[in-house]
Amino acid sequence: MKFVIFFVIIANCWVLSVAETDDVVQKAFNIWLAKYNRKFSDNSSFTTAYDIFSSHYKATSRQRLKFYSGESKFLMKPNKYSAADVNSKASTRGLLLDNDAEFAALVKEEAAVQGRVLPPSYPPPPASLDYRTMGYVSGVKDQGFYCSSCYAFATGCALEGQLAKKYGILPDISAQNIIDCSYNSSYGNFGCGGGNLGSSFKYIVRNPGVANETFYPYAGASQTCGYNPSMYSGTAKGYFYITGSENYLKSALAAIGPLAVGVRGDLDSFLYYGSGIYDDLMCSAIINHAMCLVGYGTDNTTSPPVDYWILKNSWSTDWGENGYMKLQIGSSLCGINTYVVYPTA
Ligand SMILES: *[C@@H]1O[C@H](CO)[C@@H](O)[C@H](O)[C@H]1NC(C)=O
Ligand SMILES: *[C@@H]1O[C@H](CO)[C@@H](O)[C@H](O)[C@H]1NC(C)=O
Ligand SMILES: *[C@@H]1O[C@H](CO)[C@@H](O)[C@H](O)[C@H]1NC(C)=O
Ligand SMILES: *[C@@H]1O[C@H](CO)[C@@H](O)[C@H](O)[C@H]1NC(C)=O
Repeated sequence: MKFVIFFVIIANCWVLSVAETDDVVQKAFNIWLAKYNRKFSDNSSFTTAYDIFSSHYKATSRQRLKFYSGESKFLMKPNKYSAADVNSKASTRGLLLDNDAEFAALVKEEAAVQGRVLPPSYPPPPASLDYRTMGYVSGVKDQGFYCSSCYAFATGCALEGQLAKKYGILPDISAQNIIDCSYNSSYGNFGCGGGNLGSSFKYIVRNPGVANETFYPYAGASQTCGYNPSMYSGTAKGYFYITGSENYLKSALAAIGPLAVGVRGDLDSFLYYGSGIYDDLMCSAIINHAMCLVGYGTDNTTSPPVDYWILKNSWSTDWGENGYMKLQIGSSLCGINTYVVYPTA
């Protein structure tokens, strides 16, 4: 019920007043405080939170106008990050890139193990695809405010898909296991300080094995590695990088299963993405966040129709469309086809 009232007020707001008065922002802030049960111990942190909320709230209204004028295809909405300071916003991300030398060595190493680097081509992909409907995708997770662990969730998602495809059982792979145990000089991740996809898969391959959420639950903080073989819930034999156009990525996704991808996730339009097809052209290939690519589709209610990717995030179901984003296909938005990795089960 609160939810409904919330949006009525926002809608009123942009209809009644394009330039939001302090009064309108204040009302929205009060609703936001109640919805997320946020309390502040002193006036200065309250004021800081209000200022952040206010500037973001005004931006969501501008984006709303763009949406209704047909200039853009997505809406922003206030969410739990709406009054987060810059530091805690930063920890919503946390993808570091594999360094080039390490990358080259890994590709060589994996090629030697697997006898191939990349499959040369895949069959033509179907018109649309959604691995959620095939039982390959587990529930949406929440990495929390204080842990840059996106890389572990994206890694888990891609592996879950391969395990489900191979064994017919969808596990819930433990992100915490990856966070704690690849925080190690031999893998190169930094726990809640961030990490990359290659190092995460490397850990699972070499361990070998990874726990599931039951055995090794999420703590949202860096801990010492607590894996032991009795926790084994599946493993990866190897992992591969995919390089190619968005069209190539479509056929790879259809042939393989869910893929772990790097994207740019630091723009406010991204952080407060609410619904629709994200099409912010500012979203360049500055990769700093990991997500899981689980499908694609076409919105044919517009002319011309718009193709989009379906991405699973780890910012809870409160973000985007129940935790997912539709991202416009066609201009490699957010660097979607820049850093793509998948494991073999
Ligand atoms: C906050 O401000 C109100 C009035 O503006 C004042 O009554 C109250 O004492 C202040 N509280 C703190 C913790 O400073
Ligand atoms: C974890 O694995 C155990 C043993 O196979 C299984 O009973 C449990 O349902 C799994 N839990 C998740 C969350 O995948
Ligand atoms: C890092 O991982 C390797 C391989 O699992 C292990 O042998 C080593 O003890 C770990 N090092 C630390 C510092 O945890
Ligand atoms: C539009 O998409 C829907 C659902 O994907 C499909 O059933 C319908 O046939 C499509 N219409 C056109 C004109 O392509």
